[in-house]
Amino acid sequence: MYNHIKVTPNKNNVGAIIEAELSKFNNDIIEEVKDVLAEYGVVFFRNQRLDSETYIKFAKQFGPLAEYPMLKGLEGYSEITVVEKKPNEEIMFGEGWHTDSTYTKEPPRFTMLYSIKTPEKGKGNTMFASQYKSYETLDEKTKKKIENLKALFSADGPISKTRKNRVDEKGTGIDPKSLNAIHPIVRKNERNNKKSLYLSPGHAIKICDLDENESKTLMKRLMDHQVKDEFVYGFEWEPNCLALWSNYSVLHNPTNDFNAHRVMHRITVQ
Ligand SMILES: [Fe+2]
Repeated sequence: MYNHIKVTPNKNNVGAIIEAELSKFNNDIIEEVKDVLAEYGVVFFRNQRLDSETYIKFAKQFGPLAEYPMLKGLEGYSEITVVEKKPNEEIMFGEGWHTDSTYTKEPPRFTMLYSIKTPEKGKGNTMFASQYKSYETLDEKTKKKIENLKALFSADGPISKTRKNRVDEKGTGIDPKSLNAIHPIVRKNERNNKKSLYLSPGHAIKICDLDENESKTLMKRLMDHQVKDEFVYGFEWEPNCLALWSNYSVLHNPTNDFNAHRVMHRITVQ
């Protein structure tokens, strides 16, 4: 089915591994990668050789780049955010299930992480939960109920405490309480019309137009459902890997189970 890349879906079709040399990307490769991404929600590449310039060029093939409102970028490459955990730090940036920047009016469609420094293999995995699978497996009554519901998302939601170390160091000074947005909780992929559940546990405050109790109960039920084991895949990092995901189709959660320096270069696409 794919002529320019080799694709191996993960267990339960939660993401796929792609073999391709990204430093030599061309249109054919990009179009096929976009198809695989739309199908599985997240894709992984190992053994890459991406310098920052080529990485940015590659990322631009997916849309205009977004700047992260909470942290300043890499020196000379403001489009790249350094996501790191230093030895002896306890908190890990972005720990907990979430999808990126849902508190902005137009949350970034895609996020990619390129690994620079990683702990021993098997530690610091990033977990992904397919929200295609989570939507598909809801009962029909629930699907109908949530079809037109929207939720309020805030940068001051449960995940905000994990940003503390990095914001103290190189924050932009923006008050997280000032960043809020309302979005539908069911999304449709524009490439293949697949629907997904869009409810970031790290940022969702309430479901709009429901009373407080009903909102709480429904959020709890959906949030328990959306990270069930059968929807989850954990990617084992080593240096020079790229993970690329659609924020509308998967949740992610980095595992904080190591004491070492872990450095990722992140780019988000609008
Ligand atoms: Fe994240």
